[in-house]
Amino acid sequence: MNFLYKQIIRRVLFLFNPEFIHDAMISGAIFFQRFDFICSFIGFICKTKSEPIEIKGIKFPNRVGLAAGFDKDCSAAKIISKVGFGFLELGTVTLRPQLGNPKPRLFRLPEEQAIINRMGFNNIGAIAAAKNLERMGRLDIPIGINIGKNADCPLEDAPENYLQALKILYPYGDYFTLNISSPNTKDLRTLHEGEKFKNLIGPILNFVNSKPARKPVFIKISPDIEISDLENISKAAIEMDFGLIATNTTIKRDLLKIEYANMEGGLSGAPLLNSSNEILKKTVALIGGKIPIMASGGIVNCEAAAEKLELGADLLQVYTGLIYEGPFFVKDILKYMSVKR
Ligand SMILES: Cc1cc2nc3c(=O)[nH]c(=O)nc-3n(C[C@H](O)[C@H](O)[C@H](O)COP(=O)(O)O)c2cc1C
Repeated sequence: MNFLYKQIIRRVLFLFNPEFIHDAMISGAIFFQRFDFICSFIGFICKTKSEPIEIKGIKFPNRVGLAAGFDKDCSAAKIISKVGFGFLELGTVTLRPQLGNPKPRLFRLPEEQAIINRMGFNNIGAIAAAKNLERMGRLDIPIGINIGKNADCPLEDAPENYLQALKILYPYGDYFTLNISSPNTKDLRTLHEGEKFKNLIGPILNFVNSKPARKPVFIKISPDIEISDLENISKAAIEMDFGLIATNTTIKRDLLKIEYANMEGGLSGAPLLNSSNEILKKTVALIGGKIPIMASGGIVNCEAAAEKLELGADLLQVYTGLIYEGPFFVKDILKYMSVKR
């Protein structure tokens, strides 16, 4: 199957514009997920032995999840959940719908096994996303919902913008992620900083704590984070009880060919692995096992997935690896992990 994907399907897909292919895949997924027998068939061929794990009261059938940004509108999760994932992180969803940045905004770097994107949170908004989730009903695997800030919302109003989106989406997620690390929304990443971070996380946790069913909150951090910010956020995570996702995409271009050096956006895939792992290592050391950590960034082969678990991640998230390795990548990782044990 992998041979078929890499030798034929991927070659054909890569002849077309990346965003066109992505949108076509999502439209196809929405169409086909209406047929239960198709979902069951995909579930059957992607099934493999895996080890369930419970984290913060959530039962994950395995540790490998889909990273945010693939199903931004929460519209195709039913069929994607059949590919073998242990969980899906949907979104980024913003309070109000928005178009995102001008196109082109998604670029493949095949010789680097990487992607640069500057999508800018194109999504249908929290109310429409909630309707999609309502229609879809409960899935067999846990759902995380990733929330971001509207581009036209001033930074000082960000806490309210996130909170309103969370309130709308709260019934539908098993956990929630605050995305403060996308490089494609102006100044978003300054929300990592001291007071700004406190002003954001405080009201979110007050809301979550007021609920009879307290659902876990995660903060998705940048691989370009200042170490002092990482220390502060890790300390707050232990004190206030929220998890961390290390990491989002990077704006650094150190290891890339010169032709990509000036391309604006977030870099993901193989060239992100080392810097993402550096932050993961530091986070694990600061957290000392007290709160859960998800690892994202550069998992484009099974070895990279295993490395992140060895570094101390509790759960993994993949995105770019799926584009290069195909839909059976999740199954490959799970098989590799079960053999390694
Ligand atoms: C096209 C694309 C869109 C993305 N959109 C989002 C997003 O909306 N929200 C988010 O938190 N991360 C987003 N990401 C980042 C991924 O979730 C992931 O953290 C990052 O790509 C690193 O993992 P990878 O190397 O496995 O791709 C996006 C990544 C890509 C490639």
